[in-house]
Amino acid sequence: MTDLIDGKAFAEGLRSRVGELAAAFTAQTGRKAGLAVVLVGEDPASQVYVRNKGKQTVACGMASFEHKLPAETSEADLLAVVEALNADPLVDGILVQLPLPAHIDEQKVIATINPDKDVDGFHVVNAGRLAVGLPGFVPCTPLGCVMLLKDRLGSLSGLDAVVIGRSNIVGKPMAQLLIAESCTVTVAHSRTKNLAEVVRRADIVVAAVGRAEMVKGDWIKPGATVIDVGINRVPVPASAGSEGKTRLVGDVDFASCQGIAGAITPVPGGVGPMTIAVLLRNTLVAAHRNSG
Ligand code: GUN
Repeated sequence: MTDLIDGKAFAEGLRSRVGELAAAFTAQTGRKAGLAVVLVGEDPASQVYVRNKGKQTVACGMASFEHKLPAETSEADLLAVVEALNADPLVDGILVQLPLPAHIDEQKVIATINPDKDVDGFHVVNAGRLAVGLPGFVPCTPLGCVMLLKDRLGSLSGLDAVVIGRSNIVGKPMAQLLIAESCTVTVAHSRTKNLAEVVRRADIVVAAVGRAEMVKGDWIKPGATVIDVGINRVPVPASAGSEGKTRLVGDVDFASCQGIAGAITPVPGGVGPMTIAVLLRNTLVAAHRNSG
C-alpha cells in the first residue's frame, strides 16, 4: 500500500495557523504584515501564481502589494522598484516572480532585495545562512517538502536521501535542509551515472528535475518516501475528443510507484500548495523580525 501525502490539506492547516498569527500581529502592531509581489511581463503560468499569491495573502489577513510591469521594463527600472520596496515600512516581504525577461539579470535583481525582506530565500546572504546553519529565509518549496517529510516520518536522522536536481530554487537548498536534518544526502542531476541505482538506495527521494514522469517505480526502494516537486504539462494520450488537451504530471511516474513507495506526493495536490503557504509563513516571520 502506498499512502498519499496530502500537501493540499497540510497547506490549508499551515495557512490557517499563519492567519491566526497574522491577526495577532495586527492586534499587536496596528498594521498588517505586508507582501509585495513583482511580476514583469505576461508569462501565463507566472500570472496564475501571482494571482493566487495575492488572493491567499489577503485571505490570511495580510496586505498584498502587486506590481505588474511590462515585459519591456528595463533592468534599472526594476531595480528602482525593488529599492522602493526595500525602503517601504509597510512591506515586510518582497518576491520578484521568476523567470524574468532575458534582458534582465536575475542575480542582480535578487541581490538588490534586502535579505531581511527576501521571503523567497534566494539572496546569497540567505543561501549562505542556510549553508552555515544560521537563521534566515529558506526557499519556500524545499522548506515545504521538509515539513511534509517530517510530518510523515518524524525524525529524518540517518536516512538516505537522494535529491534529483541541483537548482538554486529547489535542489541545492533541499540538500542543505536534509543535511541539517542529519540525512545522508546525495544530489543527483542530468549528468549522474546510473541514476536508477543511485535512487534505489534512497529512503527519501525528492524529484525536482522538470522532466515529466522520469522517475520510474522500479527505481524506488520498497517503502521509500517520494516527494515529487515537478509540475509538467503534457498532452493527454490520443483518444476520441482528447485533441489539444493537456494534463499536469510530476517528475515521478506516479502509477508505477503504486505499491512500491511507502508514500508519495500526488501532482497536483502534493508539494504545489505548500509553496504559497510557506511563503505566507516566511512573510509573517519577516514582519516580526522587521518590527521587533
Ligand atoms: N517562479 C517559480 N517558483 C518561484 C518561486 O518560488 N519564487 C519566485 N520568486 N519565482 C518563482
